[in-house]
Formats: sequence, C-alpha cells, structure tokens
Amino acid sequence: MSELEQAASLLRAGRLVAFPTETVYGLGCDAANPEAVARVFAAKGRPAFNPLIAHVRDIAAAEAEAILRPPALRLAEAFWPGPLTLVSKRRAEARVCELACAGLETVALRAPAFPMAQALLAAFGGPIAAPSANRSGHVSATSAAHVREDLGVSVDLVLDGGAAPIGLESTIVAFADDGRALLLRSGAIARAEIEALIGPLEAPVAGAIEAPGMLASHYAPRARLRLDAERAEVGEVYLGFGPEHPGAATLSGRGDLVEAAANLYASLRALDASGAAAIAVAPIPHEGLGQAINDRLCRAAAPRE
Ligand code: TXA
Ligand code: MG
Repeated sequence: MSELEQAASLLRAGRLVAFPTETVYGLGCDAANPEAVARVFAAKGRPAFNPLIAHVRDIAAAEAEAILRPPALRLAEAFWPGPLTLVSKRRAEARVCELACAGLETVALRAPAFPMAQALLAAFGGPIAAPSANRSGHVSATSAAHVREDLGVSVDLVLDGGAAPIGLESTIVAFADDGRALLLRSGAIARAEIEALIGPLEAPVAGAIEAPGMLASHYAPRARLRLDAERAEVGEVYLGFGPEHPGAATLSGRGDLVEAAANLYASLRALDASGAAAIAVAPIPHEGLGQAINDRLCRAAAPRE
C-alpha cells in the first residue's frame, strides 16, 4: 500500500493524519466523523468550541457542504485551489459534521493547492477537517518535524511534504446573512486582492461570530516577544528583517515579506529552542503579507492567559 493509500484508510478508520498544505501543516481527520473530530480537539488541547476548517478538492465539493453566495463563488473561482478559507452557511445535508463546525450554522471551507494535500483529498474522497497541526495556542507547524514535536504520538501518520511554502495560515472571509463580507483572519492572501474583487471587507463585531483563532493570545512561543524593536536590549535575542535591521536571526535578510512569512514560525520555534527568554522583533512593514505577519506577531506578544 502506498503511503497515501495508508493515509486515506487511516482517515476512514477515524484516525488522525497530519499533512502539508501550502500554508501550514494540517491535523486531518474525516470531517464527517464526530469521534475523529473529537480526537483532533483532544490532540490539540483545543477548546471544543473552536470550529475546524474542512478541506475540499474544489468548488463543486464545497457547494455540497455549504451555500456559496455570489461573492464567495467569485473568490473561490479566483483563489482556489489556494490559501483562502470561506465561511458560508452550512447545508442541512452537509457531510461535515456539526462538531467540526462547533455547532455553528456555518462551515469554513478551503480547497488547498499543495499537491500532496490534493492527492490525499482525492485518495480519501471526502472533506478532511484539519486545523493547523500544532498544540492549541502554540505556533503553527510548517514542517513534519514541527508536527511530531508538538503532537507526538497522538498523530497516527505524518505525511512529509517538506517545508510548507507559504508558512502562514489562510485568509478567512465570512459572509453574513445580509451579504456583508467579513475578514475573520488576515492571512496568505492580502486583503487588497480580495477587496479588488468583491469590495470592502468589514471587521467582525467582537463576539458576533465565534472565530477563536482571533483569541488575543495565540500562536505563542515560550519566550516573551517585543515588537517593532530597533535593536535587542540586554537579555533579548534579535529577530531581524531587511538590510536595515539585521539580527542573529532574521525573517528575511533582503526584506522580502514572502520569505518572512515562510520563515516566521520556524524562526520563533528555533529562538524558543535556543532558550532565549525574550525575542525582540524588527519592525515589519504593514502592507500585503506584512499585515498577516504583524497580526500573528501581535497575538504571539499578547499577555498570556
Ligand atoms: O491555512 C490554514 O487555514 C490552515 C491549514 C491547515 O489549512 N488551517 C488553520 O486552521 O489555520 P485553524 O483551525 O488553526 O484555524 C481555523 C480558524 C479558527 O480560528 C476557527 O475559529 C475559524 O477558522 N473557523 C473555523 N470555522 C469557522 C466558522 N464556521 N465560523 C467562523 N470561524 C471559523
Ligand atoms: Mg491554528
């Protein structure tokens, strides 16, 4: 049996398979099987109210699960397969189970572009629910080794596709009943690219939609973080960006935001592993992917619960 077939049969048996996507590694399970979904929550140590993204092959598969409004369809046509997640009204006959949606009337759907993720979806033949393959509140995993470090024996199989090329989670857009489009999470696709197609995105009203990925303290390394730092103070290690802010470690020596996104989580993990008590991070321009990088850094720097 090939590794992919083995992965598909583990999923059918309700087991957990971590797999690479273009954004970060996902901790996958059969989205239709509530027991398997519960196993994912347990493995992540994730509060059960936090809904999961269901991964599908394409638009047709998404439409079997949810009602995609015209602007959602427009975005799917433009960006799928790719790093965009769309939250839409769940169909009564959806295969994605209620637990995966944490009891909400909506479901988050994404068609990933990464070939190994598409191959797994094809081999399995149904939606795969997968949050990022890290312990809840920890930084996301961008390599198979990160997944094993974080989740260990609670994952039945880790498919290794090398480093996740983008390194930052998908952008999440939700569509309210009145047709407004809300930016729930900034991510790999810049806000401006989406707004160019469907007009202005609104910020969600606090508490109106459960998007616990929006919890203030999230994506947190062990070390304390200080942002917008010109240089390291005593007791800090410096994480640089660009030629003006070089460091012992750098997100991108040449100041490239795409490279910085890809390096973000691995850099935080490496500095954590080096035993640093505090990390001073260079200023990151707040444009394009920089918005999502700053969003993750702010959450990582937020006071811990
Ligand atoms: O790039 C990604 O999106 C990665 C890869 C594996 O696809 N997945 C990922 O999943 O980042 P996760 O579970 O770590 O983040 C999903 C976010 C959470 O903040 C969750 O609250 C939100 O999506 N979410 C899921 N379903 C939702 C829904 N029905 N309504 C609002 N937010 C939802
Ligand atoms: Mg996550």
